Parts: sequence; C-alpha cells; structure tokens
Amino acid sequence: MESMLTTGFQATALGQAVNEVNRMINWRLSDEPVGPNTDPEHADPEFRARTRCMIFLGFTSNLTSAGVREHIRYLAQNRMVDVLVTTAGGIEEDFIKCMGHTYVGDFQLKGADLRMKGLNRIGNMLVPNSNYCKFEDWIIPILDAMLVEQRDQGVNWTPSKLIDRLGKEINHPDSIYYWAHKNNIPVFCPAITDGSIGDMLFFHSYKSPGLRVDVVEDIRRINDLAMRATPRKTGMVILGGGVPKHHCCNANLMRNGADFAVYVNTAQEFDGSDSGARPDEAISWGKIRIDAKPVKVSGDATILFPLIISQTFAKHFKPREPEPEPPKAEAKDANGNVVFKATFD
Ligand SMILES: NC(=O)c1ccc[n+]([C@@H]2O[C@H](COP(=O)([O-])OP(=O)(O)OC[C@H]3O[C@@H](n4cnc5c(N)ncnc54)[C@H](O)[C@@H]3O)[C@@H](O)[C@H]2O)c1
Repeated sequence: MESMLTTGFQATALGQAVNEVNRMINWRLSDEPVGPNTDPEHADPEFRARTRCMIFLGFTSNLTSAGVREHIRYLAQNRMVDVLVTTAGGIEEDFIKCMGHTYVGDFQLKGADLRMKGLNRIGNMLVPNSNYCKFEDWIIPILDAMLVEQRDQGVNWTPSKLIDRLGKEINHPDSIYYWAHKNNIPVFCPAITDGSIGDMLFFHSYKSPGLRVDVVEDIRRINDLAMRATPRKTGMVILGGGVPKHHCCNANLMRNGADFAVYVNTAQEFDGSDSGARPDEAISWGKIRIDAKPVKVSGDATILFPLIISQTFAKHFKPREPEPEPPKAEAKDANGNVVFKATFD
C-alpha cells in the first residue's frame, strides 16, 4: 500500500487520499499555535490536545447494498466519524440486511427472468422481494407509533430523528444506524422519500394520514453542526456523488469550507455534473478551504474505501473518547482577579 503513492495514476491519488484521511484523523487543536485571537476558553492545553477534526462521511445508497455497509458500520461502531450523510437506499438497505440476505448475482442476469422470480437487481447483487415485505412489516408499526408521538407529545420528526429512531428500534449490532444511535452520530438524508422508505411513508399516509418529516429542521441541524464545529477543523470523506456529496459540501460552505477532503467516485466533470466536479470546483464555492489539499480518487469505492480504511482508521485504531467541552470555569490570576470568563454556549 505504501508504494501506491509513487506508482502513478490513480494509485498515486489513492496514496494521497490515505495521507489526507490520516491528516483528518491525526489533527488536534494543539497542532495550532495559541495566538492573540484565540478564544481564552480554547487555550487550555488539555482541551486543545483532545479536540479533533469533525469528520463528515457521505456515501451513495448502493454502497450500503454492497459490503461497504460493513466498513461504514465499523466506523460508526468505533466512533471514527462524526456525521453521516446518505440517500434513502443507504438507510433502508442497512435495516433490510438485518432481516434477510442480499445475494451476489451477476450484472448480466435478465430483468424479465428476475422479475418472474421476485428478485431485484442492484448491479451484480440481488435482493428478494420478500426482504422488502419484512421491512414493511417492521417499519409500519414504528411509523404508527411516531404518528402518535407527533400528535400527543408534539414531536417534530425530521429525517435524522426518524433514522435515529429506526436505529434504536432495529437493536441489531450489524446495523450502521444501531451504532449511530448508540454513539450519537447524526445521520442526514434530505432525500429520505426516494426509496423504499418513501414507499412506506406513501402507504402510511393513506392508512394513517398525518405523519410529517421536516427537512428544514435538518438543514439547520447539519449546517449548524458545520458552522459551530469551530475550534474543530472539519474533514469530508465522500464516496460517490449525488446528494450525499453535495450535502456534505454545502454544510461546510457555511463555515467557509472544509479543511480536509477526499472524494472517491467514478464521475467525470465534462458534463458539468456535481457528482463529477473535482474538489477545485468546491473551492470556488467556499465548500473546501483555499489552503486545503483535497484529493479525488477516480474509481469504485467498493474497492478503494476498504483499502483507505486499512491504511487510516483501522491502522491507527484507538477507542475514541467523546469530544471535550471547553472548560467553563473562570480563570483567576495570582491575586484572585478574573482574567477570563467562559462565554461560549
Ligand atoms: N441500492 C440503491 O442504490 C438504491 C436503493 C433505493 C433507492 N435508491 C435511490 O436512488 C437514488 C440515487 O442514488 P444515490 O443518490 O445514492 O447515488 P447514485 O447511485 O445515483 O450515484 C451517484 C454517483 O455516485 C458515483 N458512484 C456511485 N457508485 C459508486 C461507486 N461504487 N464508486 C464510486 N463512485 C460511485 C457515480 O458517479 C454516480 O453517478 C437515491 O435517491 C437513492 O435513495 C438507491
């Protein structure tokens, strides 16, 4: 793996991505000098030594359908990332895998034959219809309970609260969102209705109308997380394109850009797609900082991401402590005069 950096082509990009992810993992506030502009409550050396980069992990749905789900679960279980962003399939496929198997098939299998057998194809993987029936049986009573809580307790459901609730309900250690729930890792999915979960919300809206899922509260939540990360730096690891890529980048725009970024995707920029946009385009928008050294690796994340993890998160594994709160107490000089008072809320 170490020879990748000097191999050339995408191997070099992979080596650079490994280095960039390691920069995210290893950064501490104590790496930055304390200067005249340092907020006094951030000056405490112990607080600085424990304050890490906030890492956003974005991934497309198909990566949960594939075995990358297990790698993402490993990161959530060990609190190695701070924020997850995906699309609807990236949520439901994780739960569905707790109820039935997804099989390796072949890209060439004929759609009509599969249809007759009740098998759905995702690339060269197959998911039986029966898995979605089990998912429906599981989720509908949860949606019923959520509707009651909305009515009786005034709960304002959002995609992230819905995913957290499902992670709690699944109560299964194979699930990404079980661990996200246990470890308080927020999961954002602004396009929550574009998948089987959307079908369930659609059916539910006829059976028991009234459940609302508020995307505005969630855009505030993710943007606030990025903006208020300071004094932490932020980093983005984005697998694939589409909504997860843009949503991570857009949140970081609110803080004038992420400090670290790695893209892994197959998309190209000639068509002007956001999926294909190189990190330099994000710099022009203020989504990545001007002085950052972002990396794009072109290729399939099912191959590249496990390799990256092996040289980064897994290599430097240490159980992670919760992020420290800045010290709140007043600091006094030798004469007992207050020299600073914590103001940050
Ligand atoms: N299993 C599924 O894929 C699935 C299931 C249900 C619903 N959906 C829905 O389909 C819609 C589109 O899915 P999406 O937005 O997650 O992404 P997508 O599948 O549209 O992919 C977006 C881009 O990401 C890149 N990409 C995808 N797979 C990659 C890989 N393995 N390696 C590197 N780059 C890759 C490609 O450039 C692609 O054009 C979403 O709304 C989603 O909820 C998907």
